[in-house]
Amino acid sequence: MNPERVYPGLPWDREVYVLGIESTAHTFGVGIASTKPPYILANARRAYRPEKGGIHPRESASFMARVAPEVLREALGEAGLSPRDIDAVAVALGPGLGPCLRIGATIARGLAVYLDKPLVPVNHAVAHIEIGRLTGGMRDPLVVYVSGGNTMIAAYAKGRYRVFGETLDIALGNLLDTFAREAGIAPPYVKEGLHAVDKCALEGVEPVPLPYVVKGQDVSYSGLLTAALRALERGERLGDVCLGLREVAYGAVVEVAERGLAHTGKREVLLVGGVAASPVLREKMEAMARLHDARFHAPPPPLAGDNGAMIAWTGLLAYLSGVTIRVEESRVRQRWRIEDYPTPWNRWLDEARPAASND
Ligand code: FE2
Repeated sequence: MNPERVYPGLPWDREVYVLGIESTAHTFGVGIASTKPPYILANARRAYRPEKGGIHPRESASFMARVAPEVLREALGEAGLSPRDIDAVAVALGPGLGPCLRIGATIARGLAVYLDKPLVPVNHAVAHIEIGRLTGGMRDPLVVYVSGGNTMIAAYAKGRYRVFGETLDIALGNLLDTFAREAGIAPPYVKEGLHAVDKCALEGVEPVPLPYVVKGQDVSYSGLLTAALRALERGERLGDVCLGLREVAYGAVVEVAERGLAHTGKREVLLVGGVAASPVLREKMEAMARLHDARFHAPPPPLAGDNGAMIAWTGLLAYLSGVTIRVEESRVRQRWRIEDYPTPWNRWLDEARPAASND
Protein backbone atom coordinates (compact mmCIF):
# COMPACT_ATOMS: atom_id res chain seq x y z
CA MET A 1 0.00 0.00 0.00
CA ASN A 2 1.48 3.29 -1.06
CA PRO A 3 -1.24 5.92 -1.48
CA GLU A 4 1.24 8.57 -2.55
CA ARG A 5 1.61 6.71 -5.86
CA VAL A 6 -2.13 6.33 -6.35
CA TYR A 7 -3.08 9.83 -5.21
CA PRO A 8 -0.14 12.12 -5.90
CA GLY A 9 -0.55 15.75 -4.97
CA LEU A 10 -2.43 15.29 -1.69
CA PRO A 11 -0.73 16.58 1.49
CA TRP A 12 0.58 13.19 2.69
CA ASP A 13 3.06 14.87 5.03
CA ARG A 14 0.20 16.03 7.29
CA GLU A 15 -0.92 13.65 10.04
CA VAL A 16 -4.69 13.33 9.65
CA TYR A 17 -7.22 10.91 11.13
CA VAL A 18 -10.70 10.44 9.69
CA LEU A 19 -13.45 8.32 11.21
CA GLY A 20 -15.94 6.87 8.71
CA ILE A 21 -19.41 5.45 9.23
CA GLU A 22 -21.11 2.92 6.96
CA SER A 23 -24.83 2.09 7.29
CA THR A 24 -26.22 1.83 3.76
CA ALA A 25 -27.84 -1.64 3.91
CA HIS A 26 -27.06 -4.51 6.30
CA THR A 27 -23.69 -3.54 7.78
CA PHE A 28 -23.05 -0.98 10.46
CA GLY A 29 -19.34 -0.23 10.26
CA VAL A 30 -16.94 2.27 11.74
CA GLY A 31 -13.47 2.63 10.27
CA ILE A 32 -10.56 4.94 10.97
CA ALA A 33 -8.11 6.00 8.26
CA SER A 34 -4.89 7.97 8.46
CA THR A 35 -2.40 9.62 6.12
CA LYS A 36 0.31 7.52 7.78
CA PRO A 37 0.96 3.76 7.57
CA PRO A 38 -0.81 1.44 8.06
CA TYR A 39 -3.44 3.90 6.65
CA ILE A 40 -6.38 1.77 7.84
CA LEU A 41 -6.28 1.80 11.64
CA ALA A 42 -9.65 0.25 12.39
CA ASN A 43 -12.47 -1.59 10.64
CA ALA A 44 -15.16 -2.57 13.17
CA ARG A 45 -18.52 -3.80 11.96
CA ARG A 46 -21.66 -5.81 12.63
CA ALA A 47 -23.99 -7.17 9.96
CA TYR A 48 -27.71 -7.56 10.28
CA ARG A 49 -28.86 -11.01 9.20
CA PRO A 50 -32.58 -11.37 8.55
CA GLU A 51 -34.03 -14.59 9.94
CA LYS A 52 -35.69 -15.22 6.62
CA GLY A 53 -36.25 -13.29 3.41
CA GLY A 54 -34.31 -10.24 2.23
CA ILE A 55 -33.28 -7.13 4.12
CA HIS A 56 -36.04 -5.41 6.04
CA PRO A 57 -34.91 -1.75 6.01
CA ARG A 58 -36.51 -0.80 9.32
CA GLU A 59 -35.34 -3.97 11.09
CA SER A 60 -31.83 -3.41 9.77
CA ALA A 61 -31.96 0.22 10.95
CA SER A 62 -33.02 -0.70 14.48
CA PHE A 63 -30.27 -3.35 14.59
CA MET A 64 -27.79 -0.60 13.63
CA ALA A 65 -29.05 1.80 16.27
CA ARG A 66 -28.57 -0.98 18.82
CA VAL A 67 -24.99 -1.95 17.88
CA ALA A 68 -23.69 1.53 16.98
CA PRO A 69 -22.21 2.47 20.41
CA GLU A 70 -20.21 -0.75 20.76
CA VAL A 71 -18.97 -0.64 17.14
CA LEU A 72 -17.85 2.96 17.60
CA ARG A 73 -16.03 2.09 20.83
CA GLU A 74 -14.42 -0.95 19.22
CA ALA A 75 -13.08 1.10 16.29
CA LEU A 76 -11.52 3.74 18.55
CA GLY A 77 -10.02 1.00 20.72
CA GLU A 78 -8.60 -0.82 17.68
CA ALA A 79 -6.97 2.42 16.48
CA GLY A 80 -5.83 3.37 19.97
CA LEU A 81 -7.34 6.84 19.55
CA SER A 82 -9.68 8.96 21.61
CA PRO A 83 -12.55 10.81 19.88
CA ARG A 84 -10.60 14.07 20.28
CA ASP A 85 -7.82 12.76 18.01
CA ILE A 86 -10.20 12.58 15.03
CA ASP A 87 -9.83 15.40 12.48
CA ALA A 88 -13.05 14.80 10.53
CA VAL A 89 -16.13 12.56 10.54
CA ALA A 90 -17.06 10.93 7.23
CA VAL A 91 -20.34 9.22 6.47
CA ALA A 92 -21.87 7.30 3.58
CA LEU A 93 -24.90 9.44 2.71
CA GLY A 94 -25.95 7.07 -0.09
CA PRO A 95 -26.88 5.19 -2.15
CA GLY A 96 -28.76 2.81 0.10
CA LEU A 97 -31.85 2.16 2.18
CA GLY A 98 -33.39 5.28 3.71
CA PRO A 99 -33.93 4.12 7.31
CA CYS A 100 -30.41 2.61 7.46
CA LEU A 101 -28.72 5.65 5.90
CA ARG A 102 -30.44 7.91 8.42
CA ILE A 103 -28.94 5.99 11.37
CA GLY A 104 -25.37 6.51 10.14
CA ALA A 105 -26.03 10.12 9.13
CA THR A 106 -27.59 10.97 12.50
CA ILE A 107 -24.65 9.50 14.41
CA ALA A 108 -22.10 11.21 12.14
CA ARG A 109 -23.80 14.60 12.45
CA GLY A 110 -23.98 14.23 16.23
CA LEU A 111 -20.30 13.30 16.47
CA ALA A 112 -19.20 16.13 14.16
CA VAL A 113 -21.17 18.71 16.15
CA TYR A 114 -20.10 17.32 19.53
CA LEU A 115 -16.41 17.14 18.58
CA ASP A 116 -16.62 20.38 16.58
CA LYS A 117 -15.03 18.69 13.54
CA PRO A 118 -15.98 18.86 9.85
CA LEU A 119 -18.45 16.42 8.37
CA VAL A 120 -17.38 14.78 5.09
CA PRO A 121 -19.94 13.30 2.64
CA VAL A 122 -19.00 9.98 1.04
CA ASN A 123 -20.66 8.10 -1.81
CA HIS A 124 -20.76 4.40 -0.86
CA ALA A 125 -20.01 3.13 -4.39
CA VAL A 126 -17.00 5.42 -4.75
CA ALA A 127 -15.78 4.19 -1.34
CA HIS A 128 -15.76 0.60 -2.64
CA ILE A 129 -13.57 1.80 -5.50
CA GLU A 130 -11.12 3.87 -3.43
CA ILE A 131 -10.43 1.15 -0.86
CA GLY A 132 -9.70 -1.24 -3.75
CA ARG A 133 -7.33 1.27 -5.31
CA LEU A 134 -5.53 1.59 -1.99
CA THR A 135 -5.12 -2.16 -1.36
CA GLY A 136 -4.22 -2.88 -4.99
CA GLY A 137 -2.12 0.22 -5.69
CA MET A 138 -4.32 0.90 -8.73
CA ARG A 139 -3.87 4.29 -10.33
CA ASP A 140 -6.54 4.33 -13.02
CA PRO A 141 -8.54 1.09 -13.13
CA LEU A 142 -11.58 -0.14 -14.95
CA VAL A 143 -13.89 -0.88 -12.02
CA VAL A 144 -16.28 -3.81 -11.81
CA TYR A 145 -18.59 -3.20 -8.86
CA VAL A 146 -20.78 -6.17 -7.95
CA SER A 147 -22.87 -6.39 -4.78
CA GLY A 148 -26.39 -7.10 -3.54
CA GLY A 149 -27.61 -3.74 -4.81
CA ASN A 150 -25.19 -2.87 -7.62
CA THR A 151 -23.71 -4.25 -10.80
CA MET A 152 -21.73 -1.70 -12.76
CA ILE A 153 -18.67 -1.14 -14.88
CA ALA A 154 -17.13 2.26 -14.18
CA ALA A 155 -13.98 4.27 -14.73
CA TYR A 156 -12.72 7.71 -13.86
CA ALA A 157 -12.97 10.46 -16.48
CA LYS A 158 -12.91 14.23 -16.08
CA GLY A 159 -13.60 14.89 -12.43
CA ARG A 160 -15.71 11.88 -11.52
CA TYR A 161 -16.31 8.18 -12.02
CA ARG A 162 -18.55 7.36 -14.96
CA VAL A 163 -20.64 4.30 -15.63
CA PHE A 164 -19.85 2.33 -18.79
CA GLY A 165 -22.29 -0.50 -18.23
CA GLU A 166 -24.69 -1.74 -15.58
CA THR A 167 -27.53 -4.10 -14.87
CA LEU A 168 -30.83 -3.25 -16.50
CA ASP A 169 -32.78 -4.85 -13.65
CA ILE A 170 -31.53 -6.74 -10.57
CA ALA A 171 -27.96 -6.79 -9.25
CA LEU A 172 -25.68 -9.84 -9.41
CA GLY A 173 -25.67 -10.27 -5.61
CA ASN A 174 -29.44 -9.99 -5.49
CA LEU A 175 -29.73 -12.65 -8.20
CA LEU A 176 -27.51 -15.09 -6.28
CA ASP A 177 -29.04 -14.38 -2.86
CA THR A 178 -32.64 -14.62 -4.09
CA PHE A 179 -31.95 -17.87 -5.90
CA ALA A 180 -30.16 -19.34 -2.85
CA ARG A 181 -33.08 -18.37 -0.63
CA GLU A 182 -35.75 -19.77 -2.95
CA ALA A 183 -33.76 -22.95 -3.53
CA GLY A 184 -33.34 -23.43 0.22
CA ILE A 185 -29.53 -23.25 0.16
CA ALA A 186 -29.20 -20.05 2.22
CA PRO A 187 -27.28 -18.62 4.13
CA PRO A 188 -25.85 -16.98 1.03
CA TYR A 189 -22.19 -16.83 2.06
CA VAL A 190 -20.67 -20.11 3.12
CA LYS A 191 -17.05 -19.28 3.91
CA GLU A 192 -14.14 -17.25 2.55
CA GLY A 193 -16.40 -15.36 0.18
CA LEU A 194 -17.75 -18.52 -1.43
CA HIS A 195 -21.41 -17.99 -2.23
CA ALA A 196 -23.93 -20.77 -1.56
CA VAL A 197 -24.50 -20.86 -5.34
CA ASP A 198 -20.73 -21.22 -5.97
CA LYS A 199 -20.56 -24.08 -3.49
CA CYS A 200 -23.63 -25.86 -4.82
CA ALA A 201 -22.28 -25.48 -8.38
CA LEU A 202 -19.32 -27.67 -7.38
CA GLU A 203 -21.78 -30.56 -7.31
CA GLY A 204 -23.03 -29.78 -10.80
CA VAL A 205 -22.08 -32.00 -13.73
CA GLU A 206 -24.08 -30.80 -16.70
CA PRO A 207 -24.95 -27.06 -16.52
CA VAL A 208 -28.63 -26.41 -17.20
CA PRO A 209 -28.89 -24.04 -20.21
CA LEU A 210 -30.20 -20.66 -19.04
CA PRO A 211 -30.81 -17.34 -20.85
CA TYR A 212 -27.69 -15.23 -21.25
CA VAL A 213 -28.60 -11.56 -21.69
CA VAL A 214 -26.04 -8.87 -22.54
CA LYS A 215 -27.39 -5.76 -24.28
CA GLY A 216 -24.61 -3.51 -25.52
CA GLN A 217 -22.61 -2.66 -22.41
CA ASP A 218 -25.35 -3.78 -20.01
CA VAL A 219 -26.43 -7.04 -18.40
CA SER A 220 -29.89 -8.24 -17.43
CA TYR A 221 -30.44 -10.84 -14.70
CA SER A 222 -34.15 -10.99 -13.91
CA GLY A 223 -34.98 -13.41 -16.74
CA LEU A 224 -32.09 -15.59 -15.62
CA LEU A 225 -33.46 -15.77 -12.07
CA THR A 226 -36.92 -16.76 -13.28
CA ALA A 227 -35.51 -19.38 -15.65
CA ALA A 228 -33.27 -20.89 -12.97
CA LEU A 229 -36.18 -21.17 -10.52
CA ARG A 230 -38.35 -22.76 -13.24
CA ALA A 231 -35.60 -25.29 -13.96
CA LEU A 232 -35.67 -26.32 -10.31
CA GLU A 233 -39.45 -26.62 -10.37
CA ARG A 234 -39.35 -28.97 -13.33
CA GLY A 235 -36.99 -31.22 -11.40
CA GLU A 236 -33.53 -30.38 -12.76
CA ARG A 237 -30.72 -31.28 -10.35
CA LEU A 238 -29.87 -28.43 -7.99
CA GLY A 239 -26.12 -28.69 -8.66
CA ASP A 240 -26.68 -28.49 -12.41
CA VAL A 241 -28.95 -25.45 -12.05
CA CYS A 242 -26.39 -23.72 -9.82
CA LEU A 243 -23.61 -24.51 -12.29
CA GLY A 244 -25.66 -23.09 -15.18
CA LEU A 245 -26.62 -20.04 -13.14
CA ARG A 246 -23.06 -19.37 -12.00
CA GLU A 247 -21.62 -19.67 -15.50
CA VAL A 248 -24.21 -17.41 -17.13
CA ALA A 249 -24.27 -14.81 -14.33
CA TYR A 250 -20.49 -14.45 -14.03
CA GLY A 251 -19.95 -14.86 -17.77
CA ALA A 252 -22.21 -11.89 -18.54
CA VAL A 253 -20.48 -9.51 -16.12
CA VAL A 254 -17.04 -10.63 -17.34
CA GLU A 255 -18.15 -9.93 -20.92
CA VAL A 256 -19.33 -6.38 -20.19
CA ALA A 257 -16.14 -5.77 -18.22
CA GLU A 258 -14.13 -6.91 -21.22
CA ARG A 259 -16.05 -4.49 -23.44
CA GLY A 260 -15.45 -1.71 -20.96
CA LEU A 261 -11.73 -2.50 -20.98
CA ALA A 262 -11.59 -2.35 -24.77
CA HIS A 263 -13.62 0.86 -24.81
CA THR A 264 -11.64 2.76 -22.17
CA GLY A 265 -8.17 1.38 -22.90
CA LYS A 266 -7.45 1.02 -19.16
CA ARG A 267 -4.54 -1.17 -18.05
CA GLU A 268 -5.96 -2.24 -14.67
CA VAL A 269 -9.09 -4.15 -13.64
CA LEU A 270 -10.43 -3.66 -10.11
CA LEU A 271 -13.17 -5.97 -8.83
CA VAL A 272 -15.05 -4.55 -5.80
CA GLY A 273 -18.27 -4.99 -3.79
CA GLY A 274 -19.62 -7.89 -1.75
CA VAL A 275 -19.68 -10.37 -4.66
CA ALA A 276 -15.99 -9.55 -5.34
CA ALA A 277 -15.30 -11.85 -2.39
CA SER A 278 -16.30 -14.84 -4.56
CA PRO A 279 -13.12 -16.74 -5.48
CA VAL A 280 -14.89 -18.12 -8.56
CA LEU A 281 -15.71 -14.67 -9.94
CA ARG A 282 -12.24 -13.40 -9.05
CA GLU A 283 -10.65 -16.19 -11.04
CA LYS A 284 -12.80 -15.56 -14.12
CA MET A 285 -12.25 -11.80 -14.02
CA GLU A 286 -8.52 -12.24 -13.52
CA ALA A 287 -8.28 -14.60 -16.50
CA MET A 288 -10.02 -11.98 -18.68
CA ALA A 289 -7.69 -9.23 -17.44
CA ARG A 290 -4.63 -11.40 -18.12
CA LEU A 291 -5.82 -11.98 -21.66
CA HIS A 292 -5.71 -8.20 -22.19
CA ASP A 293 -2.41 -7.67 -20.36
CA ALA A 294 -4.22 -5.71 -17.68
CA ARG A 295 -3.31 -5.91 -14.00
CA PHE A 296 -6.03 -7.38 -11.77
CA HIS A 297 -6.94 -6.76 -8.15
CA ALA A 298 -9.80 -7.45 -5.77
CA PRO A 299 -9.58 -6.24 -2.15
CA PRO A 300 -9.30 -8.85 0.63
CA PRO A 301 -12.78 -10.03 1.78
CA PRO A 302 -13.06 -7.84 4.95
CA LEU A 303 -12.60 -4.78 2.71
CA ALA A 304 -14.59 -6.13 -0.30
CA GLY A 305 -18.00 -6.20 1.40
CA ASP A 306 -19.55 -3.14 3.06
CA ASN A 307 -17.32 -1.71 5.78
CA GLY A 308 -16.50 1.50 7.63
CA ALA A 309 -12.81 1.52 6.64
CA MET A 310 -13.67 2.30 3.02
CA ILE A 311 -15.83 5.24 4.13
CA ALA A 312 -13.03 6.51 6.38
CA TRP A 313 -10.47 6.14 3.58
CA THR A 314 -12.59 7.95 0.99
CA GLY A 315 -13.49 10.53 3.64
CA LEU A 316 -9.76 11.10 4.18
CA LEU A 317 -9.18 11.67 0.43
CA ALA A 318 -12.16 14.03 0.31
CA TYR A 319 -11.12 15.90 3.45
CA LEU A 320 -7.55 16.32 2.17
CA SER A 321 -9.07 17.70 -1.06
CA GLY A 322 -11.18 20.22 0.88
CA VAL A 323 -14.55 18.45 0.55
CA THR A 324 -16.84 18.92 3.57
CA ILE A 325 -20.57 19.43 4.02
CA ARG A 326 -22.58 21.57 6.43
CA VAL A 327 -24.59 19.52 8.89
CA GLU A 328 -27.82 21.26 7.81
CA GLU A 329 -27.18 20.18 4.21
CA SER A 330 -26.18 16.58 4.91
CA ARG A 331 -29.35 14.85 3.79
CA VAL A 332 -29.21 11.20 2.77
CA ARG A 333 -29.52 10.25 -0.91
CA GLN A 334 -31.01 6.83 -1.49
CA ARG A 335 -30.24 6.88 -5.21
CA TRP A 336 -26.97 8.76 -5.30
CA ARG A 337 -25.23 7.92 -8.61
CA ILE A 338 -21.45 7.91 -8.75
CA GLU A 339 -21.50 10.47 -11.57
CA ASP A 340 -23.04 12.92 -9.11
CA TYR A 341 -20.12 12.72 -6.68
CA PRO A 342 -17.04 14.68 -7.80
CA THR A 343 -13.69 13.13 -6.81
CA PRO A 344 -11.19 16.03 -6.88
CA TRP A 345 -8.40 13.76 -5.52
CA ASN A 346 -8.33 12.13 -8.96
CA ARG A 347 -7.83 15.37 -10.90
CA TRP A 348 -4.19 14.53 -11.54
CA LEU A 349 -5.41 11.76 -13.84
CA ASP A 350 -6.95 14.31 -16.19
CA GLU A 351 -3.49 15.70 -16.88
CA ALA A 352 -1.66 12.36 -16.83
CA ARG A 353 -4.16 10.59 -19.07
CA PRO A 354 -2.46 8.24 -21.54
CA ALA A 355 -3.16 8.74 -25.23
CA ALA A 356 -4.66 5.23 -25.46
CA SER A 357 -7.71 6.38 -23.54
CA ASN A 358 -10.56 7.72 -25.64
CA ASP A 359 -12.71 9.61 -23.14
FE1 FE2 B 1 -21.72 -1.99 -0.95
